[in-house]
Amino acid sequence: MDVSRRAKQIPPSSTLAITAKVRAMKAEGKDVIGFGAGEPDFTTPAFISEAATDALHDGMTHYVPTPGTPEVREAIAAKLRDENGIDCDASHITVNNGAKFTVFLALQALLDPGQEVILPTPAWVSYKPMIDLAGGTLVEVPCEGAQDFKMTPDQLEAAITPATRVLLMNSPSNPCGTMYSPDEVRAIAEVLERHEQVVVVSDEIYERLVYGDEPNLSMGSLPSMRDRVVTINGLSKAYAMTGWRIGYACAPGGDGAVIKAMNKLQSQMTSSITSFTMPAVVVALTEGAEEVERMRRIFAGRASLIHELVKQWAGVTCPRPTGAFYIFPDISSTFGSTSPGGRRIDSALDFAEALLDETGVAVVPGEDFLGPGPRHIRMSFATSEEQIAEGCGRIREWLGQLAPGEAVASSPSSTAH
Ligand SMILES: Cc1ncc(COP(=O)(O)O)c(C=O)c1O
Repeated sequence: MDVSRRAKQIPPSSTLAITAKVRAMKAEGKDVIGFGAGEPDFTTPAFISEAATDALHDGMTHYVPTPGTPEVREAIAAKLRDENGIDCDASHITVNNGAKFTVFLALQALLDPGQEVILPTPAWVSYKPMIDLAGGTLVEVPCEGAQDFKMTPDQLEAAITPATRVLLMNSPSNPCGTMYSPDEVRAIAEVLERHEQVVVVSDEIYERLVYGDEPNLSMGSLPSMRDRVVTINGLSKAYAMTGWRIGYACAPGGDGAVIKAMNKLQSQMTSSITSFTMPAVVVALTEGAEEVERMRRIFAGRASLIHELVKQWAGVTCPRPTGAFYIFPDISSTFGSTSPGGRRIDSALDFAEALLDETGVAVVPGEDFLGPGPRHIRMSFATSEEQIAEGCGRIREWLGQLAPGEAVASSPSSTAH
């Protein structure tokens, strides 16, 4: 049976594909070290899980309001007010099936066909398919490792046209592992103040996992931007709750008009998130700070370790990870070489495939992250320090055995649209 053009147009998630391949290799008994995972290697703190099982046993098994219960929306609004400084209330909140679906709903609610979405790249693999599905036109702003993969105000100014509707920001970033400083967020906002038609979708799913000297600044907390930002977050990454599928959005502008539109769409698609998870969301947000900090510290230790080890790789450059749990090394100096197993390496995909087959180390090739992504690999450090040391050691040894070929020009991507 044939499928629709829309379904054909959307590629499968390459990051989930690598995770599935590693799982299959491990099931065959192979010695694989996976740097592919986009999720914490911790289990959900027990007191959060207990709140859900208690609710289940107490019979919270019926439909619930589409945007979430009043209690869960109030807990999220309180978190955003107290921790992020966003002036909002419960009516400005919607709770959805994972932040992935929240981004999808926000773009569906905001975009008309042909309107432009500015996306600093490298960027998370799901944004482009979601922009395509919403009928938007992608306008890439490629950001190099030398600029910590962050868009400058001048780059933003140059990308804005009368057709620009959305700026899609993600800080701290998947796949880059870097975050915009508060001053950099303010500088981006200053540009946007001159372009009132632009709405910011600010994906802050990694905001608690930061390792630099400065905290995350939510653009929605700036008074000049309050009514023009859709702040997106969720419990997956900070609370080790990826399987629960809990994301949320906050958009106070226009009396919550975007939230109402997202709720209308959600009411026709999934109705709501799973009823008995909602008390667990309230418990996580009100009592989870210590656990989040415990996990953050562990990630911070891994971030420094992996950066130290990657810096030892000959010819490879990489900014220090300051947020999320990714490092995004530039491996393009290997292009044109031949692997110990006799494979020619001309791309990040060649690199990742040869590396996996010859050393059992899994990394994600950077092609699907766009911009300068094709010169990089993404490595998740949501794995133990032992695995990080072992995997990075294997890569270093393997790199030392590459036979150099003629140099391949690795010019930065100049894609504008
Ligand atoms: C940047 C970014 N946004 C959103 C998500 C989705 O999170 P969730 O698991 O809540 O759908 C991810 C997950 O990988 C992500 O990396």
